[in-house]
Amino acid sequence: MLVLGVETSCDDTAAAVLRDGRRILANVVSSQDQIHGPYGGVVPELASRQHIRNILPIVDDALQKAGVALQDLDGMAVTYGPGLVGSLLVGLSLVKGISFRSGIPYVGINHLEAHLLAIQLEHEVSFPYLALLASGGHTLLYCVKDVGAYVHLGGTRDDAAGEAYDKVAKMMGLGYPGGRIIDHLAKDGDRKAIRFPRARLKNSCDFSFSGIKTAVWHYLKSRGPEQWEGHKADIAASFQEAVVDMLVNPTIRAALAYGMRRIVLAGGVAANSRLREKMKEKADADAIEVFFPSPKFCTDNGAMVALAGYHWLKRGRCDDFRLNADADLTL
Ligand code: KG4
Ligand code: ZN
Repeated sequence: MLVLGVETSCDDTAAAVLRDGRRILANVVSSQDQIHGPYGGVVPELASRQHIRNILPIVDDALQKAGVALQDLDGMAVTYGPGLVGSLLVGLSLVKGISFRSGIPYVGINHLEAHLLAIQLEHEVSFPYLALLASGGHTLLYCVKDVGAYVHLGGTRDDAAGEAYDKVAKMMGLGYPGGRIIDHLAKDGDRKAIRFPRARLKNSCDFSFSGIKTAVWHYLKSRGPEQWEGHKADIAASFQEAVVDMLVNPTIRAALAYGMRRIVLAGGVAANSRLREKMKEKADADAIEVFFPSPKFCTDNGAMVALAGYHWLKRGRCDDFRLNADADLTL
């Protein structure tokens, strides 16, 4: 079964071709980091305009790299929410248009579901598993019982983990998106240099990242650039250590409380080297297995959308042309 996956929910234009839910024949991503970089965050109007420019060449490129023609496809999958509505509409309209003209069936995919299943592109992880989805827009804990059976166990009460990374990078003038930059910079820093506070939400599997953001802001403000510019790496490493602790501790707590033997990381922040290291260290101590996707399948991509689509198409689901983009879609 040959499935095209299209993803345009935020600022990456992505398309992939997947055979039988396992063989990735092509996975093409066009990043808009250069466009949004000067603003320190995604500008929705610029994102949707850029998707319009990118989408056809990206889909053509994916088909060409996979060595298949449009008419060879058995189905298509496209993210229809949650995300930026203007961005979502570009991918959804394109896929609906192709489906209308060619008769190839399509399904709309929830972006969160695609992230939760992304691990299956590279590893066979048996259900159920505990998934930590940490990205620029979300920080969520789910028990993934099967395709389509997701139990919400916890989530952030304020900011997403990726948002904290991006905002702190902006405060320090490091560039956008901040996660990868801070991850890299932190390798040269001392993670014990500054003890930033960790939010502890008792008897809960929830997260909170607004406090750490404010703590870094106060640290920088009370000193002024001349005092902190010389030790950015220490600030990055100390900030990262606090974020990682605040992601790892509730996740391990949830795994123990719900008797889960497998933890899966998902979303852009799951690409973080220190998070991967510490989660593994803590999980090993409790004999829990941890699985991470390759970084290219942590951040937004078309392959994870094609994979979710493969499962739904196989089960006979097919959407009609009334499906609309839903910016606030929940799982
Ligand atoms: O999943 P994703 O590509 O898009 C959303 O659905 O949000 O995640 C993007 C987020 C950004 O906040 C980015 O800074 C963060 O993931 N990120 C990282 C790393 N790579 C990307 N955060 C920490 N460490 C990284 N290596
Ligand atoms: Zn995402």
